[in-house]
Amino acid sequence: MARHFVIDCDTAEDDIMSLYMLLRNGVEVEGVTIVEGNIAYEQEVNNALWALEFVSGKVNKDIKVYPGSDRSLVKSFKTVENVHGKGGIGDEIVRPKKLRPEPKRAPQAILELADRYAGELEFLAISPLTNLALAYLMDKSIVEKVKKVWVMGGTIYGRGNITPVAEFNIWVDPDAAKLVFNAGFDITMVAWDLITNYVVEEDEWERIKAMDTEMAKFYVRIYKHYREFAMKHQKMRGNPHPDLITTAVALNREVIKRSERQYVDVENCDCLTRGMTVIDYLDLWGKEPKAEVVYGIDKDKFMDMLFHLLSWF
Ligand code: RIB
Ligand code: CA
Repeated sequence: MARHFVIDCDTAEDDIMSLYMLLRNGVEVEGVTIVEGNIAYEQEVNNALWALEFVSGKVNKDIKVYPGSDRSLVKSFKTVENVHGKGGIGDEIVRPKKLRPEPKRAPQAILELADRYAGELEFLAISPLTNLALAYLMDKSIVEKVKKVWVMGGTIYGRGNITPVAEFNIWVDPDAAKLVFNAGFDITMVAWDLITNYVVEEDEWERIKAMDTEMAKFYVRIYKHYREFAMKHQKMRGNPHPDLITTAVALNREVIKRSERQYVDVENCDCLTRGMTVIDYLDLWGKEPKAEVVYGIDKDKFMDMLFHLLSWF
């Protein structure tokens, strides 16, 4: 049976490769929704359109890009060009040649797609949760219509990236995240301090650089900046794949080595711990454990999926 996805992006390198992994694995991408986050919002829209043009000859349907929120619900936030480069794929600034975004806004598109694929639609949230929160506030019945929300976000053990305790997607819009985690969606959460254990190591990077496919060359081009930043400033031995591991989990549950159903809440104060995800791992609060928290990834299975993607064309 076909699977129907909306992928919500703050379009930097890992968002782009996540879109490609969905397409490479034959799921129906019913929409790409754009939300505030990594870099200047207009460039996030341009990146998504430009990325779709790169694979246009390999995909047999027009994938629609729906602009969404360009700011968080309540709080201010900052973009992170230092992490991903000014263009989100390094400092290169790209523009689509022909493709243009849809006039329809993302929250409305999400609601319409949830109606069209009621009970089947899956939402891949590899970005701040503002668009999904807005759709939920517009029509709470979306909770019953969306089959699954796959979230790249938060931390398990409080080791963040944008602050010492908060992961960027949740920190950008903690109010939206708090709404989404408490709305009743069936969530699987892939946390930052989980995925940092599964970076692309030197030998794997060299293997990718030696590949003779357009996709492998594209990958090296768009990840070079992020890899250098992660190794220099985030104590990592290579480039991490927060979005792509979340996408791989969504596509193939065998990528999950261990997970637990737990209640997760979000700190949305304007304070030191803004954006912290709080996991009730001892069930102290007795609240329904609506989130599946992933605690272990099978890196071999993930890397197999990455190399399958890089060998596409
Ligand atoms: O914290 C990592 C996440 O923040 C990734 O999704 C990255 O693209 C940014 O959105
Ligand atoms: Ca992202």
